[in-house]
Amino acid sequence: MLPGVDASAHVVNCFRAKYTNISLDNFAHLWVTKPAEKLANRYLKEVGESEDIAHCLRHRFFLERLREFHIQATNGVFINIGAGFTNYPYLINTPIASCEVDKPNLIKSKQQRIQKLQSSQQLPERDILFLCTTDLNNSRENKKLFDSLSQWIGSRQSFILMEGLLYWLSQDSVNSLFKHLQQTQIAGSLLALNAFKPSETSKAMFQRLRKFSEKGYGIGHFSPNTLSETFHENLLGYKLIDQANYISLSKQLDKVKELVDKDSVLEEDCYLLRKI
Ligand SMILES: C[S@@+](CC[C@H](N)C(=O)[O-])C[C@H]1O[C@@H](n2cnc3c(N)ncnc32)[C@H](O)[C@@H]1O
Repeated sequence: MLPGVDASAHVVNCFRAKYTNISLDNFAHLWVTKPAEKLANRYLKEVGESEDIAHCLRHRFFLERLREFHIQATNGVFINIGAGFTNYPYLINTPIASCEVDKPNLIKSKQQRIQKLQSSQQLPERDILFLCTTDLNNSRENKKLFDSLSQWIGSRQSFILMEGLLYWLSQDSVNSLFKHLQQTQIAGSLLALNAFKPSETSKAMFQRLRKFSEKGYGIGHFSPNTLSETFHENLLGYKLIDQANYISLSKQLDKVKELVDKDSVLEEDCYLLRKI
C-alpha cells in the first residue's frame, strides 16, 4: 500500500468489510491487507469510532440506487470515478456495462488482481473498462478523461458515481468536473455523490479527519473540499431527487447501532441527481 490518497481507498474498503450486513459488499474482504487494516484501526482511533458504520451506510445507499437504475435502464452504463477498491459491478446480479476511473497505480494493481480473482472464481466474470487519470485536479486530464468517457457512453443512459472523491478536489476542479458531467450525461441519467457541508468543518472530528488525511495518508497540507447546501439544488441541468445523511440512514435499518450524537458523527450527505 502506497501512501497518499490511494491509501484512503484501502482504509474505506476495510470499513466496508467490517460490517457486510450493512455495506452489502460481500467482496470487500478480498482487498483487505494487514497494513490497510492497521491504518484503518488507527483512523478509527484518531478520527472517530462511528466512521466504519458511516462508510458502510453510504455504500449501501449507492448500491441500492444503482440496483434500481440497472432494473429500469436496460441499456444503462455505470461509471465510478475514484472507484478505489469498490466492487459495485460484482454486486449487481446481472452484468452491467461498467467503467472504473482512478489513479494509474491503483487501477493497475486492481486490474491485475481482478484477473486472478475472476479466474479462481472468487469474483464473477464482469467486463470492466479501466481508465487511468493521474490527477482530477488537472483540467487537461479532466478533458482527456471526459473525451474518452463521452465516446464510451455514447447515447446510453448512465449512472455516474463519485463516492468519497470530492473531499480531495479543489472547488475549481469540482466545478469543471460538473460541467463535463453535464455535457456527457443524457437526460434521465443519474449522478450520485457524497460531500461534506461547510458547517461540518467546525466540528472537532472534521479537523481530526483533515489532520489524519495529512499525516496518516502522508499527503501534506491540504484544504478539504465542502459543498454548500444549495450547490446540488442549483446545479445546472440536474434535479436533486434523493438525499440522505448517515444519521438518517442509520435510523432506517434494524440491528444497526443508531448514530445519534451529531458531534461524534461526520455527516457527509449522499445525493442522487437526475439529468434533465
Ligand atoms: C476515499 S477513496 C474512495 C474510494 C471509493 N470510491 C470508495 O468509496 O471506497 C478516494 C478515491 O479517490 C481517488 N482520488 C482522490 N483524489 C484524486 C485525484 N486528484 N485524482 C484522481 N483520483 C483521486 C483516490 O485514488 C481514491 O481511490
